[in-house]
Amino acid sequence: MDLSSESASKRIAVLRSTIEQANAAYYLHDSPFLSDTAYDSLMQELRQLEDSFPQLASPDSPTQKVGIRGNVPFAAVSHRLPMLSLDNAFSLQDLKTWEERLSRLLGTAVQTDMEYVCELKMDGLSVSLTYLNGLLVQGATRGDGITGEDITANLLTLSSLPRQLKTRPAASLFDTNSSPSLIEVRGEVYMRHDEFQRINALLEEQGGRTFANCRNAAAGSLRQKSPQVTAARKLDFMAYTLGAYEGMEFSFQTQLLHTYAEWGLPVSPYSTLCKGIDQVSEFVEKWREQRESLPYDTDGVVIKVNSFALQQELGAVSRSPRWAVAYKFPAQQVRTRVEQIEIQVGRTGALTPVAVLTPVNVGGVTVSRATLHNEDEIRRKDVRIGDIVMIQRAGEVIPEVVEVVVSERIGTEKEFLFAQNCPICGSQAVRSEGEVVWRCPNASCPARIQQALEHFVSRNAMDIEGLGAKQIEQLLHNGLIQDASDIYSLSIEVLLPLERMGEKLANKILQNIDISRSRPMERFLFALGIRHVGERAALLLAQRMESLENILQTDTSTLAAIPEIGPATAGEIVAWFSDEHNRNLLRKLEANGVRPVPSALTLQSSKMAGKTIVFTGTLNTLRREEAENWVMQHGGKPGSSVSRQTAFVVAGDNAGSKLQRAKELGIQVVSEEEFLRMMQN
Ligand code: IVH
Repeated sequence: MDLSSESASKRIAVLRSTIEQANAAYYLHDSPFLSDTAYDSLMQELRQLEDSFPQLASPDSPTQKVGIRGNVPFAAVSHRLPMLSLDNAFSLQDLKTWEERLSRLLGTAVQTDMEYVCELKMDGLSVSLTYLNGLLVQGATRGDGITGEDITANLLTLSSLPRQLKTRPAASLFDTNSSPSLIEVRGEVYMRHDEFQRINALLEEQGGRTFANCRNAAAGSLRQKSPQVTAARKLDFMAYTLGAYEGMEFSFQTQLLHTYAEWGLPVSPYSTLCKGIDQVSEFVEKWREQRESLPYDTDGVVIKVNSFALQQELGAVSRSPRWAVAYKFPAQQVRTRVEQIEIQVGRTGALTPVAVLTPVNVGGVTVSRATLHNEDEIRRKDVRIGDIVMIQRAGEVIPEVVEVVVSERIGTEKEFLFAQNCPICGSQAVRSEGEVVWRCPNASCPARIQQALEHFVSRNAMDIEGLGAKQIEQLLHNGLIQDASDIYSLSIEVLLPLERMGEKLANKILQNIDISRSRPMERFLFALGIRHVGERAALLLAQRMESLENILQTDTSTLAAIPEIGPATAGEIVAWFSDEHNRNLLRKLEANGVRPVPSALTLQSSKMAGKTIVFTGTLNTLRREEAENWVMQHGGKPGSSVSRQTAFVVAGDNAGSKLQRAKELGIQVVSEEEFLRMMQN
């Protein structure tokens, strides 16, 4: 065969996906589109190519499988053009700044009639669909933007995805703009609210894990090894942009969307051509509220320069185009009813009141509980059982009750009386002077032990994946473990009888337990759950104290002298380590082979001591983690948000809201180069 390896590889890719598509059509939809002869000849061509180019053979190839792909991981797909992400804007000011940058780049004054297309930002996952001569031959996830995963078989189960584009027949021999020979149609796969609820109800019935929000449900349903599972869930698709294309020209985003619709691809009915940033901002304002009435989740508005010629001129930086921006809506507030108020017992014994709510969707997540913080907060907000309240979720934080809608009280609401006893072990609750929290003082309270163990194995502590709340509960309940040290003597025989535990998972858990024996010191100290010792204090302690012996011997004043560790924390640490019960736990952990290793973040200088430094935007030379580690090795603290306490902000490319905030607060901003210089001095 007279083919270069490169063209062979391309042909192989086309053959594989066409065959895969034919398989799906044949096996899944009972609607073959290839005759047996055509199918066989494609298969034969593929086999010959794989024989001649053994380096291109793959266990994933249809030649290696019977029928549809079974339980193999997804094959990699190189996007012909990268799938970029978008820069974010959070305020009208951000949009104006973006517009000013556009005009600067285009060398013009800000044009009040500049054409933008405003689209709703769909909250799902982006996919790229390759159509060859109008036929869908491959579908891929975004992946890292360069390489995605081949999910063709799964995408073919979406009923809203046309397998064949309804392209217009050429009007004449000279009409070369009727259909593309190749086009990567890009858009979002998403799940509607009603389907999300249906799937979660089903999963709950079957005792499976439910999805947290529509986006997760869409992603989880699409990345299924078996297309039958995807087919059983109703996913939708919305097309909004394109990748590579050949044999056709497009001049405007409006034209692209119009053409997509003509071809039978689903497009949003709400996309609007706006002139100037003022009209853009009207669109944004209109949808801020209105989006709540849509049957699917949106998390913002995408604003694109309409002209493809201007888009080309503006180009892209690192991972995002300059010609588009995503306006993100802030955290939503939603109204619901407080059905009950419960007391949750934390690992330190803190009794936290929690509102049990009529479940509502807040920014894509079903929320059924929200924290009320403490007794004083309940008083201050006057939250009563039966009240209609506004709740909000901001970022990753636990949802909270913002306020009571007092005007909706009907008189049957009941005031909540803070119990005098721990709801789990019945111990008399205590509230120390000057504290707002009530606590269960019983160190052996089953709720406290459960929480302490959940904390011990959690991601940022000992990170024992697979050993979750459910497993810990069963182990405790059956008396198989009593404290953290017992985790290290678990065996396969003990794990296997647990609910929903297979041999594979049990072995994985044992392996994870083993790996956790040598976690860095700061994680171990954090895992112990000493009051006031969060991740930061644990790190400071590990940096200065290096070994457990040192900590056992130290005193309050030495600890209190460590910057950022106050006398209260120092006192808690000394108290914890002098408690015989805790000392015994440490001995048992050691006897079970737990040997924390010295922190990799040992102190090299104190030049950043007491400083909080925030990194934002894309760094070019340093990796974010590297930069943050350096800060910690020099006594500083990497911060996630900009406040008056921030010492300075290091701004890389495409810095957004954090840079903005730093400017507003008058906080020093340095470039990556300047920061590198600081590191070298
Ligand atoms: S255009 C180069 N349009 O948002 C620009 N993206 O934050 C490519 N998204 O990865 C994207 N709705 O998953 C575009 N109407 C829309 C969108 C949209 C949702 C997602 C998409 C993208 C992410 C960027």
